[in-house]
Amino acid sequence: MADKAGFCYGVKRALEMALGACQEDGPWYTLGPLVHNREVADFLRSQGLEVKESIDEVEAGGVIIRSHGAGPEVYGLLQERGLKVIDATCPRVARVQRLARQMTQEGYRVVVVGDRNHPEVIGIIGWAQGQAVAVSSGDEAKSLPFASRSAVVCQTTKAEEDFLEVLIEVAKLSDETRAFNTLCEASTQRQKAAIQLAGQVDLMVVVGDRTSANTRSLVKACAKRGVPTYQVENPRELDPLWFKGVLRVGVTAGASTPDWLIKEVVDRMVELGSNVAELEENAVEETLVSTGLSDEVGDVKGAAAANKRTEGGLLC
Ligand code: F3S
Repeated sequence: MADKAGFCYGVKRALEMALGACQEDGPWYTLGPLVHNREVADFLRSQGLEVKESIDEVEAGGVIIRSHGAGPEVYGLLQERGLKVIDATCPRVARVQRLARQMTQEGYRVVVVGDRNHPEVIGIIGWAQGQAVAVSSGDEAKSLPFASRSAVVCQTTKAEEDFLEVLIEVAKLSDETRAFNTLCEASTQRQKAAIQLAGQVDLMVVVGDRTSANTRSLVKACAKRGVPTYQVENPRELDPLWFKGVLRVGVTAGASTPDWLIKEVVDRMVELGSNVAELEENAVEETLVSTGLSDEVGDVKGAAAANKRTEGGLLC
């Protein structure tokens, strides 16, 4: 397991707030899933939290703002309609929103390094009065127009190298550039731990939803390290063939992946590991029988077992 993996502080906080809300008068809704993880979404639904795609679908009750945050227009609409609001915006995302608003008010062109369709980025752009521009890579930033003053902020879960690459390009296209490293520590720690682990194993498995941006960043970071990397959303997606001839597998998980799901995946891998070992052992046995060498090997195995009994501590 990577040293840092799974739920981050902001996601845990949002879940606790949501579960607390479910104990109060409802109904309670989120606009889009609270966490980018299907299994968690199913669990929350079972607790009474419903997912709606737009405020128009909410007639009464309350809305929980997700850890990704939302733009000011969303708060305005909720207030207008007299709906209750629980704001579970992660404090680290709230900081990016404040910076985007402040820099826009001070006359800077705000560049958000991130995926323009991600809810966090949509919210940040909203706080910049809709005037910020989102770019996801240094290459994309090359086509930005010149601006005398630019401010660069970053989607909290973006890869550090994307932030730095964009920053270099924006600096070339502006007289003055202000940079705010708004990458989330929880996210960068997970990436560093994943990269470190990827250097020590033959294969990496990343557990997390395909809609989760930080899980995708982990997959990208591990694959870049040169190790075969597979992403799974649940244990059923593990393919035994991936593990053939593989000695060591590293596991990591996105910040929106719950511990119980990671455990289920690891348990299944252990199960598959012993099946693969058994299959390989059977295949060797069959080969030995067909070549007439099985008795000889049986003697060797017997001697090894005796050794193991006498020198168990050492062999184990
Ligand atoms: Fe917040 Fe960082 Fe998690 S921004 S939601 S603690 S990945």
